[in-house]
Amino acid sequence: MTTPSVSTSPAFKAPKGTYDLTPPRSAAYLAVREAFAAPVRRAGYGYVETPGFEDVRLFARGVGESTDIVTKEMYTLTTKGGDELALRPEGTASVLRAALEGNLHKQGNLPVKLWYSGSYYRYERPQKGRYRHFSQVGAEAIGAEDPALDAELIVLAVDGYRALGLTGFRLLLNSLGDQECRPAYRTALQDFLRGLDLDEPTRERIEINPLRVLDDKRPEVRAQLDGAPLMRDHLCEACKAYHEQVRELLTAAGVAYEDDPRLVRGLDYYTRTTFEFVHDGLGAQSAIGGGGRYDGLSEMIGGPALPSVGWALGVDRTVLALEAEGVALDLPATTDVYAAALGEQARRTLFGVVTELRRAGVAADFAFGGKGLKNAMKSADRSGARYALVAGERDLDEGVVQLKDLGSGEQRAVALGAVVGELRKLLA
Ligand code: HAM
Repeated sequence: MTTPSVSTSPAFKAPKGTYDLTPPRSAAYLAVREAFAAPVRRAGYGYVETPGFEDVRLFARGVGESTDIVTKEMYTLTTKGGDELALRPEGTASVLRAALEGNLHKQGNLPVKLWYSGSYYRYERPQKGRYRHFSQVGAEAIGAEDPALDAELIVLAVDGYRALGLTGFRLLLNSLGDQECRPAYRTALQDFLRGLDLDEPTRERIEINPLRVLDDKRPEVRAQLDGAPLMRDHLCEACKAYHEQVRELLTAAGVAYEDDPRLVRGLDYYTRTTFEFVHDGLGAQSAIGGGGRYDGLSEMIGGPALPSVGWALGVDRTVLALEAEGVALDLPATTDVYAAALGEQARRTLFGVVTELRRAGVAADFAFGGKGLKNAMKSADRSGARYALVAGERDLDEGVVQLKDLGSGEQRAVALGAVVGELRKLLA
């Protein structure tokens, strides 16, 4: 006879590269999402939500056939009906697709400003700060070419980080030029790169996506890139003037930035302004947000010319950055008042009081599961509540409940009809 194995670990675990958000840490994620959303809402961005999966060709065309995201990192699937779908690896292509499909750009009010918050999926090699399922808050301004719009978005992101109390981040800024000046630069860069001592995959990359080679982190490659031509020195007059205006507006708004002529992002749709927010307390996965202008993306996915700009901020990495800085968020209490009843009658009465408190906006909880008073008071302490309400049959006969200050231990009787008002006053 075999004895069944006794195991304390659960049979199922979250898939590799993913993790669960559970209380109390999950509260920080909500606070981060809220802090990123508040500034964009105030700036007229409307909420957009798109499906978690899309036609795989949307990302292949939009994000770029040669990017790591499309060639290696997409979760693709074929439906029973034969559709080729991909879990969304990013939000920009989807949001633009939704704007075009909903004709938002034809309603006479450009730019169309949209913000979103959700889960994204990339089959990456997991490590701290790099997950296969992660969370972004994003904002896109579709259909206007105006340096003030680029600056607006950057300022709104900075305001989001600052509202959380984050300080140790830097803004890296670059311009990737446009279809006027980028092709000549691309050729100049290719000529330079072809003369270097590089491995075969990198040589292939020179032909498909030479700008990405500039972003190579390997020291032996970096060492050879010193004299590489930079987009900065090849910008056409229009791109140069545009970039100069973005920089001036940022300075006027009190936003510090670092010019980073080697900043190349991992998505192909960027033109002109590109930027990344990096945090130095995070190690290798230091980008806590990024974005830029994507003037050609609409046409790439079959729409009209709609110059646009946007960003996405990483929620997971921002939480890590807050932890790295030791920032304690000012989170609302989950429970202010905890009620414990002795006896059936008191249970009914206190249940009513708790309901009333909640309706009056007070965070209140109740000792469920028929706990004895000692256990209930332990739960009250663990809940973080500032006050406990206790009542037994005798209190009810006298028309009172006991109000206990869990900090000082002080306890007094309060008339049943006055307790909600009293607690609201105490907690105000
Ligand atoms: P992205 O740079 O690929 O841009 O992602 C934005 C942010 O999402 C990153 O800076 C990072 O904080 C977070 N992130 C990305 N991948 C992971 C991962 N595997 N694990 C954890 N966090 C991650 C975009 O997605 C563009 N759609 C941004 C944009 C919007 N550009 C224009 N509009």
